[in-house]
Amino acid sequence: MDSRRDFLKKAGILSSLAVSLPTLVNANTAAGSFNMCGYAAPKIDKVRVAVIGLGMRGPGAVERLSFIEGCEIVALCDKHPDRVERATKIVTSKGLTAPKAYSGEDGWKSLLKEEKLDLVYICTPWDYHTPMSIAAMKAGNHVACEVPIALTIKDCWEVVKTSEATKKHCMMLENCCYDFFEMLTLNMVRQGLFGELVHA
Ligand SMILES: NC(=O)c1ccc[n+]([C@@H]2O[C@H](COP(=O)([O-])OP(=O)(O)OC[C@H]3O[C@@H](n4cnc5c(N)ncnc54)[C@H](O)[C@@H]3O)[C@@H](O)[C@H]2O)c1
Repeated sequence: MDSRRDFLKKAGILSSLAVSLPTLVNANTAAGSFNMCGYAAPKIDKVRVAVIGLGMRGPGAVERLSFIEGCEIVALCDKHPDRVERATKIVTSKGLTAPKAYSGEDGWKSLLKEEKLDLVYICTPWDYHTPMSIAAMKAGNHVACEVPIALTIKDCWEVVKTSEATKKHCMMLENCCYDFFEMLTLNMVRQGLFGELVHA
């Protein structure tokens, strides 16, 4: 209760000082850094993708990506080589070129060093999400990473700062927000059907 009251008190002080959300956000970013909100990186005609983590979730991503025109799966990586082999078959069974295979605990580091990519798609266990996303952006790639992208607020900010510094998009692959009910509700909000929304 006390921390809740403290929060409300602080929130009251902030609002009386007219401190806006962007101000709070900017307080956490490096001075003068680029803000990715609203930014769209230049169009890429053929998107070269690598998928890291081919357990339960990864092969489905490989399957979906293999249907997308303008998308080339150039590399696959998992700690276990047999999982890479299995996912490779998903690609080759569609008549597409076999991606380069990487395996082992640190195979993903070699992948980032050796491959010319546009997007790194990460489906590994949680602990790897932040370091792999950051390394992939620093290597010059956009990132799509399974949930959750970070386990601490500090790591969340590391991801944001890296994205801002590199101007690489980094998307956490939350998907429930795109379900029917959520999209319908958002649409109704945007059309003003609920009047002024003060809390959600
Ligand atoms: N968005 C969603 O709806 C949704 C649903 C399920 C799972 N997920 C998320 O997807 C992620 C993967 O889930 P999963 O069920 O496929 O897990 P999983 O354990 O089946 O697969 C993870 C894979 O990563 C591999 N891996 C581990 N360390 C590695 C390393 N150093 N280098 C390369 N590969 C490595 C493992 O060998 C394994 O094959 C999780 O973070 C999970 O939270 C998201």
